[in-house]
Amino acid sequence: MLVKNAAATQPFAAALTRTQDLVSNRIDAVLEGEDTLSVAMRYAMSGGKMLRGFLVMESARLHGVDEQVALDAALAIECIHAYSLVHDDLPCMDDDDLRRGMPTLHRQWDEALAVLAGDALQTLAFELLSDTKMGPNALELIRLLTRASGKDGMVSGQMLDIAAETSPEPLTLEQITQLQNRKTGCLISWSAMAGAVIAGADKTPLRHYADALGLAFQIADDILDIEGDAETVGKRVRKDAEAGKATFVSLLGLDAAKTRATELCDQACAALDVYGDQGETLHQAARFVISRDS
Ligand code: IPE
Ligand code: IPE
Ligand code: MG
Ligand code: MG
Ligand code: MG
Repeated sequence: MLVKNAAATQPFAAALTRTQDLVSNRIDAVLEGEDTLSVAMRYAMSGGKMLRGFLVMESARLHGVDEQVALDAALAIECIHAYSLVHDDLPCMDDDDLRRGMPTLHRQWDEALAVLAGDALQTLAFELLSDTKMGPNALELIRLLTRASGKDGMVSGQMLDIAAETSPEPLTLEQITQLQNRKTGCLISWSAMAGAVIAGADKTPLRHYADALGLAFQIADDILDIEGDAETVGKRVRKDAEAGKATFVSLLGLDAAKTRATELCDQACAALDVYGDQGETLHQAARFVISRDS
């Protein structure tokens, strides 16, 4: 996948492409079977931007973590993210037929395989993180991922998102912020902190960076639903309002949501001061997040 405005975001574009190549090759090595489940899992893992994997690799680079170790943590978060999307697209959730420019997994095969491939991607993530190569902080990494993805993290955010569709009252700004922090922010935060956790270093600056980045990322996704075209975005657009989704855009309107995304991008970048020049790639990533067209 190409990054638009590549000249303006050169180190980031190169780092993202490198992550996409490394993770794609690694998933093929880890999931080499030709059985239906393995084929479906590989399908679910293909075609994404791999921003979360990139954040793991970059956080690892900043903390001197071995690249092969970082790669399996990057693969793990991309497995969790892919599982969340496969389930998000199911008829009982957002009922989508297009993902990453391809038929959603349940359309390509069936709903049972979509549920099971998602389940297996989730457990594969934890298998990867439990390998001895992850080192002495593996358990902390795993504990943080259970929290980021589970009942107080992504899954609970998805619950709030679905419940909001039929809420008699529109959600408040505080409620929408909590929903989006959980459904999207938690996995992004885990990704950005992973390198620091593996290295046993202070993860506070990256947590602050990612807390703002995660919200900005979801606001950009909500704006793309209104302003994007399906071919470029790779998924159906103009669905959120009809489905009754609670978003920053539904509450504040497009202009205020864009302003908020820019403020959050600035906030994310300010948290990187401690890394000096070394933080430039993450600066560029933040700018990409709010200006992307897919
Ligand atoms: C889409 O995430 C789902 C959200 C959390 C908004 P991405 O935009 O990162 O999706 P891919 O992985 O690039 O397809
Ligand atoms: C999905 O949010 C978030 C998760 C899968 C956790 P959306 O429902 O807005 O994502 P898209 O727009 O379908 O990619
Ligand atoms: Mg959804
Ligand atoms: Mg969706
Ligand atoms: Mg969306």
